[in-house]
Amino acid sequence: MLREGGLVAFPTETVYGLGANALDARAVARIYEAKQRALNDPLIVHIAAPEQLEQVADLSALSDLQRARLDALAGAFWPGPLTVVVWRKASVPANVSAGLDTLAVRFPSHPIAQALIRYAQCPIAAPSANRFGHVSPTTAQHVLDDLDGRIDLVLDGGATQIGLESTVVNLTTEPPQLLRPGGVTRAQVEAVLGVALAAPVQQNDESAMPAPGMLTRHYAPRARLVLCADEDALLAQHAFLKGQGELVGALLMRDHARAQATIHPHFVLGQTLEEVARNLYAGLRALDAQGVSVILAVRLPEVGVGEAIADRLRRASAR
Ligand code: TXA
Ligand code: MG
Repeated sequence: MLREGGLVAFPTETVYGLGANALDARAVARIYEAKQRALNDPLIVHIAAPEQLEQVADLSALSDLQRARLDALAGAFWPGPLTVVVWRKASVPANVSAGLDTLAVRFPSHPIAQALIRYAQCPIAAPSANRFGHVSPTTAQHVLDDLDGRIDLVLDGGATQIGLESTVVNLTTEPPQLLRPGGVTRAQVEAVLGVALAAPVQQNDESAMPAPGMLTRHYAPRARLVLCADEDALLAQHAFLKGQGELVGALLMRDHARAQATIHPHFVLGQTLEEVARNLYAGLRALDAQGVSVILAVRLPEVGVGEAIADRLRRASAR
């Protein structure tokens, strides 16, 4: 199907992707159509071996220092949840990267993703397999909920392990930029590079996107998301909002016993940051499906994968 220009959704270790042959401009255009994705939001190209990078990226355009950084990151985190932004090769259709000269590339660790890329015999362009602006899918059912009838196939590999999208690092700038926190932590990347990553550029203007995909409101559920400092604040918000006639749901930690007894519907995310990352999108979707008007959640420490969790919660709660 991929070789014939079709759209195939597939599991990765982060979230499900919606794949098309990255070297086929018409197939890539179908991704934007199916997702109703903004045409200025570039895609990530997925490869099945580090050597395949040269098929899609112009590595000669990197300085020696940038090349060394790329090799270090690939050596440390590939295959895995790290995406690097490098220079696009002229033979790769421009719509893959929304017309930019740069290209985002990732070598996923999921065996089904790897096998798919190898069998297709082409690099695969794949954004997350959700409707544009919606919460990313972490199960095949989530993909169907958003895209059934608009895509050709979903490969069902069960629930994804990490649950949040890959970390995106731009290697074409000095110093490199953290465009999106994700499955690999900032500290891990900085330890390998030996340099502090520049802050992601916040961008609200869709017409000019130097850091595409960084729209403030993104990863959003239908319901309004309200972040609270702790369980007490969450219970107080719940009482207040119920008094206003809102239908209130909550994303809770395993040790939030009082809130679990008081707030219905609720969804228990787990206790560790890794569990929260894995279950966050399923929780947002589950509460949305129960028709709540407001979702309450507590703020968590922004350490490790907590930075990516906080980033997604902030964007999902932006109005
Ligand atoms: O974990 C993931 O990365 C998942 C799985 C399927 O691999 N994919 C994913 O793709 O999250 P997507 O399209 O939802 O997010 C890709 C983001 C863009 O929104 C943008 O922030 C960044 O990657 N990106 C892609 N190409 C870029 C480029 N040339 N320059 C800067 N940022 C880019
Ligand atoms: Mg996405």
